Amino acid sequence: NSTLDRALEAFGRGDPVLVHDAADREGETDLIYPARSVTADAVVRLRRDAGGLICVALGHEVAEAFDLPFYSEAVDHPATADHDLGYDERSSFSLTVNHRDTYTGITDTDRSTTIRALGEAAETPEETAFSEEFRVPGHVHLLKGAPDLLAQREGHTELGLVLAEAADLPPAVVVCEMLDAETGEALTPADARAYADEHDFAYLEGQTVIEHLG
Ligand code: 5RP
Ligand code: CA
Ligand code: ZN
Ligand code: ZN
Repeated sequence: NSTLDRALEAFGRGDPVLVHDAADREGETDLIYPARSVTADAVVRLRRDAGGLICVALGHEVAEAFDLPFYSEAVDHPATADHDLGYDERSSFSLTVNHRDTYTGITDTDRSTTIRALGEAAETPEETAFSEEFRVPGHVHLLKGAPDLLAQREGHTELGLVLAEAADLPPAVVVCEMLDAETGEALTPADARAYADEHDFAYLEGQTVIEHLG
C-alpha cells in the first residue's frame, strides 16, 4: 500500500502522521510522532494544531520493564472500578510523568525533554533506571499498549505503536487528538485530511493500518 509506505518513510524520518481510528470507535484523528523525534516545536504543533491531550504510548513490554501499571489498576478508588467507556473495553492510561531535568514539566521545552527521554528509554529499557530518570506524577500522560497490539485493541495507542514497529523505531510514540479549534469537537476526517495535505503529512485510516500491519 503506497500511502502506508509513504507514511512509514516519513514517520521513520521523525515526521508526524495523522491516524483516524474509525467512525464507530472514537472517531478521532490523532497527530502522532515518534517520541524520540519530539522537539519543543513539535510540542507547539501538538498543542496548537492538535489541541487534545499529549500522551506517550509505550509498548507493553517496555512499560512492564519500567513497572508502569494501567492507571485503573494502580489507583484503588471506587471510580476506577468501572471504566464504562462508550468506545472500547478499557482505557490504555498509565501514570503521568516528568523527566527529572524538567522544572514545572509543562513548558514546551520541559514536555519535549520528557517525551524525547521516554523515546530514548524505550530504545534501551534494560539500561534505564526509570525512577531515577523520571518523576511521577507529571505532565505527560503515559499510555500502555496491549500486549498483542492490534489483535487485542484497536486504539491510537496500538495503531501508533504498530507504525513505530513497522518503521523500525523504538516502541514510544506521542499521540494527541486533533480538535476543531472553533467547535471543540473532534476534527472531522475531511478537515484532518486537509490539514495533512496542507502540511505535506501522511493521513491514514486505522483500517488501512489494521489491514496491512494488524
Ligand atoms: C488519550 C486518548 C486518546 O484517544 C489516545 O488516542 C489514546 O487512546 P486510544 O488508544 O483509546 O485511542 O483518549 O488522550
Ligand atoms: Ca538510553
Ligand atoms: Zn484515541
Ligand atoms: Zn481520545
